[in-house]
Amino acid sequence: MQPYDRRLITHARHPIAAPLHPHSVLDLIERAVGDDDAARPRILDLGCGEGAWLLEALAHFPGARAVGVDIDGAGLERAAEQAEALGVADRLELHAMPAADYRAAEPFDVVLCVGATHALGGLLPTLEAARARLAPGGRALIGDGFWEREPSPAVLEILGESPGAYAGLAGTVDRITGAGWTPVYGHTSTLDEWDDYEWSWTGSLAEWALDHPDHPRAREAAETAAAHRTAWLHGYRGTLGFVTLVLRRTV
Ligand SMILES: C[S@@+](CC[C@H](N)C(=O)[O-])C[C@H]1O[C@@H](n2cnc3c(N)ncnc32)[C@H](O)[C@@H]1O
Repeated sequence: MQPYDRRLITHARHPIAAPLHPHSVLDLIERAVGDDDAARPRILDLGCGEGAWLLEALAHFPGARAVGVDIDGAGLERAAEQAEALGVADRLELHAMPAADYRAAEPFDVVLCVGATHALGGLLPTLEAARARLAPGGRALIGDGFWEREPSPAVLEILGESPGAYAGLAGTVDRITGAGWTPVYGHTSTLDEWDDYEWSWTGSLAEWALDHPDHPRAREAAETAAAHRTAWLHGYRGTLGFVTLVLRRTV
């Protein structure tokens, strides 16, 4: 019987676990690493999931070396398999551990944390964690939520968040600049990117349930897909935003 691996199913058509199209991802990586294709950057991803950002960076920059950290061993296994398939495994190091505990002997040229700031205690502690691991002149690539519009009590309940969980876009950027960083680029996820992400997640899971009606987890999969779709369409669609910023330390 086919195993029920929810992560594998929901990410099958959208390996980046954040609302960004592949071309946005590549554009942000290029802006964080720089234009020099011969660059040999050291890249760290805190909360790397299946390593989709790092795999893209390693494929694009043949001189790059990368480290991914995540507590989810299954996601890291998937990252390792994909790295083998792409021929970049010798340049990728993976650590199954809390992001906050990761220490390296050498600093990094780029530190990423996309959709995983909760792993480090929120946006500002994530910036501090990036600062502590960056080489002088390095760049952080940070993706986090923000309120596109004021959340209703119903949306807050669906997300299990308080109004203060996020600021608006301007307030988010103000918090970042106030912590000593200068945004040198930013990508605000479009509604199309959100829809692609959410339809991929919920649709892949719903389809798996339809294709495996006799599987003991089929009903659970169908219910999870439906609940997620409802929370998104009746809840946070258009209210929860996502911004990914390329940041340098303000001198
Ligand atoms: C929404 S996913 C984002 C994954 C990846 N950054 C991406 O954009 O594809 C959040 C990730 O944070 C990881 N995570 C949660 N708590 C963590 C922790 N304390 N330390 C490291 N990773 C953590 C989860 O396992 C998950 O892979």
